[in-house]
Amino acid sequence: MANKKILEDIKFLELKPLNELCSSSIKKIKSNVCEKVTSKQLKKYIEYYKNFEDEDALLSDEEILKFLRNEFSNKLISLKKVCKDIRPKGKFSFVIDNRVGLTINFDILNIEQWSVSGQKSNYIHKVSSKHISKMIRKGETWENYYLSMDFLNERSPDIYDTKLMLFLISSDPSEMEFGFKKLEEFRSTDNMTTLISKDGKKIRCSRFCPHAGADLTNASFDGRYVVCPRRGWRFDIENNGKEIQNNEKITIEIIED
Ligand code: FES
Repeated sequence: MANKKILEDIKFLELKPLNELCSSSIKKIKSNVCEKVTSKQLKKYIEYYKNFEDEDALLSDEEILKFLRNEFSNKLISLKKVCKDIRPKGKFSFVIDNRVGLTINFDILNIEQWSVSGQKSNYIHKVSSKHISKMIRKGETWENYYLSMDFLNERSPDIYDTKLMLFLISSDPSEMEFGFKKLEEFRSTDNMTTLISKDGKKIRCSRFCPHAGADLTNASFDGRYVVCPRRGWRFDIENNGKEIQNNEKITIEIIED
């Protein structure tokens, strides 16, 4: 009965807090055109607010750093088992609110904590304490965290590094082990495939994309660029098979008739 009373009393407008409402909803509120909430809508409403972040979700710097140190230490233990040639190189800094953070030095496989900005790293990842707190509290996987894109990445030189991403997005040792094993496999294989452009240009090229191993047998080839079917990396056959935006490359052999 109590629920019925709640349903009768609540006016349903939109499943969002006021500052996220669009102008037409705000207009509706002002003109007082409201509908009664249905039980289905109420359920949705409650679900939404359950997930709505409140101030309690904010962890202290110490808690966040402790979590990161623990996560990265475990990741480094797994990384030590990976062949040296295929490990990420240089330094990666994880920066919270531009204030505190950790730097991983992949060359000596250690972690340094610091509390001043201006870390000299090739890769800098900046995130708000609010976002990382939420990720920690929800027990979100690293892959989901990275898919949120709610952070800022800076890299110098501006070159995508598959090995670093693999390290970052793995959430447990078996994931990382599997990822690096696959990376090693498809980067070291001399497996080739043949592509023919519409105008009849024929090449043989590496079978697997150096990014994440997509089969380039299904790549498109316009006579100059081999375009990976998965994420669209473009390898220029007039530049030795180099990808146009990073230093990765595939082996290319032009087949003359
Ligand atoms: S596998 Fe990602 S672009 Fe090729």
